[in-house]
Amino acid sequence: MRGKSEDRKCGIRLMKEAAAFPGAVFFLALSAFALLTTGCAKKEEVVKVGVAAQMTGAEAKMGSDFKNGIGIAVEEWNSKGGVLGKKIEVIVGDDQADPKQAVSVANRMVNDGVAGVIGHFNSSCSIPASDVYNRANLPMITPASTNPLLTGRGYGGVFRVCGTDEQQGKVAADFARTRLNVRKVAVLHDKTTYGQGFADLFRKNLGAGVEVVYYGGITKGDKDFKPVLTAVREKHPDLVFFGGIYPETGLLVKQAREINLAVPFLSGDGSIDPKFVEIAGEKAAEGTYLTFSPDPHAIPSAKAFIEKYTAKYGELGPYSIYAYDAINILLAAIKEAGTTEGKAVIGKLHSMEFSGALGKIRFTERGDVSQLPYVVWVTRNGRFEEYWKP
Ligand code: ALA
Repeated sequence: MRGKSEDRKCGIRLMKEAAAFPGAVFFLALSAFALLTTGCAKKEEVVKVGVAAQMTGAEAKMGSDFKNGIGIAVEEWNSKGGVLGKKIEVIVGDDQADPKQAVSVANRMVNDGVAGVIGHFNSSCSIPASDVYNRANLPMITPASTNPLLTGRGYGGVFRVCGTDEQQGKVAADFARTRLNVRKVAVLHDKTTYGQGFADLFRKNLGAGVEVVYYGGITKGDKDFKPVLTAVREKHPDLVFFGGIYPETGLLVKQAREINLAVPFLSGDGSIDPKFVEIAGEKAAEGTYLTFSPDPHAIPSAKAFIEKYTAKYGELGPYSIYAYDAINILLAAIKEAGTTEGKAVIGKLHSMEFSGALGKIRFTERGDVSQLPYVVWVTRNGRFEEYWKP
């Protein structure tokens, strides 16, 4: 057991660091969480790893999902002695889904001496933050950022364990054209790197024969979408596509029904969360289509993690298991490299094959995983069901 004075010393160190950092209060709270779960230890005794995502605000659920998945992995590693003979300490950074804040968090992670970062969630945060990590030779693995540009800039140390919007946009468009047989589509997005990028890749893949009758952006954080939905309704689309995250998807679907715009909505990985149904209301959400990877409950290697996760935190979040695999890959690469030195770890990440909860993972030269299958899910009675495979 640790003495009280050592715990206090450790708490003070974190408090001082937190005070110099924007968003200090929350950072401190989460650091305290990390200490509770990993045990406080002197600086030289730990290997620090970062988790960066939106821990507060409308999308905080996604940050919690990351943190919970990572917490389980780190507990497992620490119960077996940690990595390189040291305990692992998780440093949590809250980017508030804001690109500027993401850069602050990234600088903070570098200054704090983390061996690598799992994050961020939003592509609009991961992309600018990756500039910082790249300059510091710090490996970064995002569980969830799907914009193609993230791994498209030739940075050796940037990886993702999810798919890309090139894959997701094509599956969404193929579904709309060949399964729903739509002829007229309204395309909305939230003007972010992810939302607009996904919407544009959806539009690009629709092909001749499907007319985009409305195309436009909404502003993240707004609460009243009835003006834009009224303009959409006047164009009589068969389907509304939305590139964005669940807080806005939920409100759009809810308000569409309120103005009698009754056509189905199609969105993607950023919206497939129970929070979407909570915001839209079960009745309005019924029949909404969402592209995402297939159900992990059907993957035998995912069973143990899912059982542990649900016992501890309740329902699995869409990206909880991706965060779990991402941190396990990073820690395995550190172990294999025998050092936390960034270039050596990045080299291992490129050369290793990893058996994760989601199956075998090997990174391409860009840092992507080789083809990840997307499927279409449908919302039924407030739950999500797999609906269509390409
Ligand atoms: N896939 C979403 C993004 O890239 C979460 O922002």
